[in-house]
Amino acid sequence: MSEMLFESPAELAAYAAGRVAELCQKAVAEKGVCHLVLAGGTTPRLCYDLLRQMPLPWASLHIWFGDERCLPVGDAERNDTMADAALLRHVPIPAAQIHRMAAEEGPESAAAAYAALLAAAPVMDIVLLGMGEDGHTASLFPANPALTDVRLAVPVYNSPKPPAERVSMGYSALNAARHRILMVTGKGKADALARIRAGERLPIAAIADGEWLMDRAAMGSTD
Ligand code: 6PG
Repeated sequence: MSEMLFESPAELAAYAAGRVAELCQKAVAEKGVCHLVLAGGTTPRLCYDLLRQMPLPWASLHIWFGDERCLPVGDAERNDTMADAALLRHVPIPAAQIHRMAAEEGPESAAAAYAALLAAAPVMDIVLLGMGEDGHTASLFPANPALTDVRLAVPVYNSPKPPAERVSMGYSALNAARHRILMVTGKGKADALARIRAGERLPIAAIADGEWLMDRAAMGSTD
């Protein structure tokens, strides 16, 4: 586990984009391919905006999603819709290498289909993750049965963050990856971060060996 503190979300996003680019280049140089898992929510958007301007080996990238919201294809609230707008529609990644979650089909069938895809794929090279104010990550929420589901992709019900139904990569897939980069910004996250640093096992705390990137506001600094 490593921690880095940044003055602002913009500084954090610039570092994160550079780190992702570095790890992508390395994976492609070593294996000819890189499997990158994108985070949802709003925090990663700045990073994606910067990434698309970088000379990555886009044709050698496979894109996966850490979680998705069970909404119709193209819905503005879907994580893949955000990723398309901020990154994917601006870079030459072959469509067949963008592995979306079929969350529109509902949690069970989408999770089963994605788990089958993941089982046939190599371990992920890079996983990007955000954190919610309750310490959730991907769609792994406190006290939710999805936390103990050992499948590579898991159905999620009763999410406290709308929509209630989601699909998430499980810990088994997230923790098998080579690198996990956790991006946490904003004062709304300070309470959860303080609880985790005090040893509370909030869902994101079960992410193994993460590279934690946090801004001053998330660390509770007011100055
Ligand atoms: C989602 C996300 C979720 C997100 C956190 C943080 O679908 O909502 O995958 O895990 O990363 O809720 O969200 P923000 O970045 O918007 O604060």
